[in-house]
Formats: sequence, C-alpha cells, structure tokens
Amino acid sequence: MVFWTFIVVIAILLITYDKINSKTPDGLKNIHTITLFSRIFLIITKQFGHDKLYFRYKQYFENDGIVKERILGKWVCMVTDPAIAKDLLLKQDVYPKVSIEKTFPNSLFAKYIGTNVAFSSGDLQPIIKSTSDFFNLLMVLILFRRVCNPAFKILPLHLFAEAALKMIDILETIDKKPVEIKNLMQRFTLDVLGKVAFGFDFNSLGNPNSAYVTAYNEVQKAILDPLTLVFSIDHIPIIRQQRLKKLAKLNNLFKEIIKEKHKALAAGKSREDLLEHMLNANENLDNQILSDTELRHNLAVFMLAGHETTAIALSTILYLLSTYKNIQEKAREEVLRILGDNLIPSAEQHKSLKYLNMIIHENLRLYPPAPTLIYRELTEDLKFKNSIIPAGTIIELFLYGIHHSPKLWDNPEEFLPERFEKERTTSENYTWLAFGGGTRMCLGNNFSLIEQRIVLCLLCKYFNLRKYEISLAPNSIHKDGLKIQIQMSPHPIELIFKRRD
Ligand code: HEM
Repeated sequence: MVFWTFIVVIAILLITYDKINSKTPDGLKNIHTITLFSRIFLIITKQFGHDKLYFRYKQYFENDGIVKERILGKWVCMVTDPAIAKDLLLKQDVYPKVSIEKTFPNSLFAKYIGTNVAFSSGDLQPIIKSTSDFFNLLMVLILFRRVCNPAFKILPLHLFAEAALKMIDILETIDKKPVEIKNLMQRFTLDVLGKVAFGFDFNSLGNPNSAYVTAYNEVQKAILDPLTLVFSIDHIPIIRQQRLKKLAKLNNLFKEIIKEKHKALAAGKSREDLLEHMLNANENLDNQILSDTELRHNLAVFMLAGHETTAIALSTILYLLSTYKNIQEKAREEVLRILGDNLIPSAEQHKSLKYLNMIIHENLRLYPPAPTLIYRELTEDLKFKNSIIPAGTIIELFLYGIHHSPKLWDNPEEFLPERFEKERTTSENYTWLAFGGGTRMCLGNNFSLIEQRIVLCLLCKYFNLRKYEISLAPNSIHKDGLKIQIQMSPHPIELIFKRRD
C-alpha cells in the first residue's frame, strides 16, 4: 500500500512536470497521444501486455498508422505503417538505433548492456577500437556482425537435443500432473543458449535455484519492470542500490563464463561457438580489442535477445497446440512421417517439416516475442500523411500492431498456420517482422527456429510413443484466450499431458 501510494505521488509529480515542460512540436500535433495518465492507468490496472496497448488504441493504429507518447521526457512515435517499416529497416542512416547509454543514461538497463551489437548503429566505435581511420562507423557494425555470423551458420544440433532430452526427463517425473510450461521453457532456453553460444552450462534444468540462474533472473526481472520502463524507478536510491548489487552478481557470472572459455581454449577444447568467435576476433585483428566490459555487455545482449524470446515462442506455441487439437494432430502426423526412426530431426529433415514451420511462423505472427523493435532516432524530418515528424523524434516500430492489422491480414486474431503455405515469411512485404528485417535482421533467427523445431519434434515423438496429447489444464486462466503478463510474455501456462482415447 505504502509502495503504491508512493508510486501515485510520483506519477502525479511526473504528469505535472511533463505538462509544464513538454511542448508538442507542430509536426506531431495531428498524431494521437497516449497520455501519461493513460499509461499510468494501464500500469495500475496491471495491463502490461502490448496486446492491450494495441487494442486500446487500435483505431489510431489502423487509421493513422502512428500514435505518439512521452517517455522519460522524449517524444516516441509508435508506428504500424508498413511503408515506414520498410524505410526504417532499409535506411540505417535515417533511422539509426538509439544508444541506450545516451538516451537513458545511468539506467540499470544501460549499465547492463552498455554499447553492444544490437543497440548500436553508428556508435559502435567503442566496441572495436581504432578502426575509425579505416572504416566508417557503419562498416564497424557490419564487421562485428561478420564476427558473430559464423557462429550461427552451422549450429551443433546435438547440444540442442541434449538439453531437450533433459527437459523430457523432467516431464517424465511430473507425469500426469499439470506442468507450468513457461518456467520450464525459460530454463530450457537458458541452458541451450549457455551451451551453444558460450560453451557454458547454466544447468537451469538441473538446478533452477542455482546462484547463476537466480542472479540472471533477478536482473532480467528488474530491467523488464514496467515501472522502470515508464518511471525510471531504478533512480530511487534504495531500489537502485538493491538492483546494482544484483547486477554486480550477474557481472561476476559473465566474468566466470569468459574465464571458463579461456581455460577451455588453453586446454585445446575449441567449439567454434559465439564467445570463441568474439574472443578470437579480439586477438586476431590488429587493434580491435574489446575491453572486458564491452565483451560482457555483448554477452548480456545476446542473453537478453536469445533467451526469453525463444522461451516465449515455445510457451505460446504449446498453448496454441494444446488448444487447437486438430492442428496438434496434423503436426504430430508430419513429424512422425518425416522423422521416421529419428528422435531428433537431421539438418535435411528440418527443411522438410513444412507444416511445423507454418505453425511456428503463425505463432510468431500472433505472439511476436519482441513486439516492438529497438528505438530508432530520426536523423532528418519525415513527412508522413499530415505530419512532419521532426528529426530527433524516436520511432518505435510496433510489430504486434502490424501482425494484427485487419488491413494486412485476413482474420488476424485467428490461428491459421495455412496462411503461410505460400512462404510469406521472408518479411519482403514488411507485414511479418517477427525477426525484424533488412541489414539488422535478428542474428539468432536460425538458432531459435532450430531450437523450436527440436523441442516440438521431440515432444511429438515422445508423447506419441505413450499415446499422449497436450491439453490446457482444467480451469486455466487461459481457457478463453492467452493472457499476456508483460510485453508479450504470457502468464504461467499449466498444461497436462494426458492419454489420448
Ligand atoms: C523467437 C526468438 C527471437 C525473436 C522473436 C527475435 C527477434 C528479434 C528482432 C525483432 C530483432 C531486430 C531488432 C531491431 O531491429 O530493432 C532481433 C535482433 C537480434 N537478435 Fe533476435 N530474436 C530471437 C532470437 C534470438 C536469438 C536466439 C539470438 C541469439 C542467440 C538473437 C540475437 C539477436 C541479435 C544479436 C540481434 C541484433 C542484431 C543487429 O542489431 O544487428 N535473437 N531479434
């Protein structure tokens, strides 16, 4: 109660401060505003999901393709217009990514991920030093992507499979009881990312309460806290102190990961994974030295980008399969037909799983784990319909809105994997953007798709042997539709694995 009274007082002060200090630029006057008051209402009523935001402002997103909002003293335009999406993804010079360190200085988020590959455009100079003489800053980014890319080209399928089998072992022990799938998927994807990208075993499946896992989860929770995102509450001394302590613990974990990798390399145990590519690039290219902090920031951003996203995708897809039994059955048939005696799909079989791929894409359309792209800051004025959006405005591409627009999709709220029969997934028409697009397309899309296919195949194969099917637990809060907890992360989902009649 005291806490909420405190938040309300802060909110009133912020609204007053904002009213006095914010002047709407002329070019933005025709664009509908999400007021700070509405934001506070959404927070107090715990409507943190991006689905709620879209449906509340649907008429503006649909008619205008844009709404605006003041966030921490800056104008942010949320955009659902595919023409701007295309522009934004193709013109990095006009829409560079916003540096978190510059935009939200001293925030916990900035301290956590610093300057890194995902949140930078022209400001990557600190990442690879002394290159400004030879390359322009954009080239530096391309170079860094090139360093990371090989680690994602040929992925060690057996490591994904090992973790998936470990997860099945856990499901065995909780036979017949409802299983909370979101937590299980978070543990699974953390272990996969640790093993495949860094050669490190978080053992989150084996020990969900280990010091590593706890440190990681605590920081993750703090940076996604909606009160932090809107009110920057991590500047309040007592909260800040607690959070910085958690961050220090996590930084020790990253140091440990790097130390272990150095040890493994010294012992001749190379795995050609992402961390190794980063360390090698550091050693091999003249003067291109990542400091420990920069290396740590990039580990952090890969964790942020690669862990929770796939965990959400797997949770929502299992929810959908448990709800649409005919689609579950069709998927099972395809997996059994294509895999034959294999438990895990071979590289070739991954490509042949056409229906499963359609389900995966449709799930990512309905519930895009990253519902918005990273902020971009306009470097020149943008004419859009009746408005001139001034240079300096932040543009946030709202993927969820694009994926749910009735102008772009027939029956957008329906789960219809068949709509992807014609391979609409390439993001060419800028209406399916689950992994972003253009030169800044997700580096880990292949990684995540492999991970999802392996889990789904294994579940189909394994549960088919026992003639089980996946169902939503009786009285689930999701029985009338999936309930989102925050951004695109659902509330815990209990599923049961029961015998088919
Ligand atoms: C379902 C899973 C995933 C989804 C939906 C997803 C989504 C996205 C999106 C939308 C972007 C573009 C951001 C922007 O342009 O503002 C992105 C970028 C990125 N993703 Fe993913 N991602 C997923 C999994 C992964 C995984 C598994 C990894 C790594 C292991 C990863 C690493 C990255 C990186 C490093 C970037 C930044 C690339 C750049 O800016 O050049 N992602 N992701």
